[in-house]
Amino acid sequence: MAVIDTKIDIAAAYLRAGEVVAIPTETVYGLAGNALDGDAVARIFAVKERPFFDPLIVHVKSIDAIAKYGHFNHEVLKKIAHDHMPGPVTLLLPRTHLIPDIITAGLDRVAIRIPSHNIARSLLNQIEFPLAAPSANPFGYISPTRATHVNDQLGHKIPYILDGGPCAVGVESTIIGVEGGELVVYRKGGLPIDQLISYGLPIRINEHSSSNPNAPGMLKSHYAPSCKLKIVDNWNLDEIDVETIGILTFGKDPMPSNVKHYINLSATSDLNEAAKNLFTSLRKFDQLKLEQIWVKLLPEKGLGLAINDRLRRAAAD
Ligand code: TXA
Ligand code: MG
Repeated sequence: MAVIDTKIDIAAAYLRAGEVVAIPTETVYGLAGNALDGDAVARIFAVKERPFFDPLIVHVKSIDAIAKYGHFNHEVLKKIAHDHMPGPVTLLLPRTHLIPDIITAGLDRVAIRIPSHNIARSLLNQIEFPLAAPSANPFGYISPTRATHVNDQLGHKIPYILDGGPCAVGVESTIIGVEGGELVVYRKGGLPIDQLISYGLPIRINEHSSSNPNAPGMLKSHYAPSCKLKIVDNWNLDEIDVETIGILTFGKDPMPSNVKHYINLSATSDLNEAAKNLFTSLRKFDQLKLEQIWVKLLPEKGLGLAINDRLRRAAAD
């Protein structure tokens, strides 16, 4: 198993040596390697068992560093960067020659973000290169929001997990870019879409399918637990074996009395709290080896949009 510790200099030393280590961010844990070192990046794909057509996000320490690796192709993206970075948003920008092909899967644009987690920021300030980092989970599985989540699944493949505690946001970054005068949202995430309205560009939400590898890896079936996730309109549990079902609730929704396994994402109906608890809760049910998880969609606003997106993808076959 990997060593789990909080020593930034040790993580930096591994990264300088071309190793892959897990790092905390405010969204989810990342599986990081030197973005400018093709061998280190190839190791990331190998550890995750991720197909090479699915490109990686580059993590940098500052807006100046973004400009080194990507061209701000619209003023609005610059404004958004100044307003929301560091934070849970990723920009898709035309790449500069410094970015290796393997990072973008050969695409013309590179995804870049500045994580706001203190430990990630200190680490980026200590090293001399940007970090490529997908979520630190096996390809297609639920993203990790604690160091132990990473260790459970990838601990035997990496030397070190930099522990930053539970992730404050809990869902991945919102991915945006500008195409044809529209602000395009490629992945709903930690920065709620309503925060993007004031910039004045029309907003288009790109719904992806598994048949479009040109689009940010929004494969239809993703973020999936091993047991079946089912989206329901009501808790019609009469004819079901309650031993084998986990119920994910939200707010004050009354539970049928016969339910055995349930987790409330937020008893106070707080969507931010629900996002933070989402992946941990799915993992808990998975560990109980239940047959199904039942959930009702949450309100379609704020982080509810990103949560529902993950639930739909986890429910897709
Ligand atoms: O919050 C996050 O974004 C986390 C933390 C670790 O930073 N990272 C993350 O990475 O979620 P990953 O690889 O699990 O998801 C990134 C998504 C993928 O679906 C990928 O296809 C898409 O971003 N992506 C990355 N680079 C792209 C590019 N050049 N063009 C299109 N899509 C890209
Ligand atoms: Mg991922």
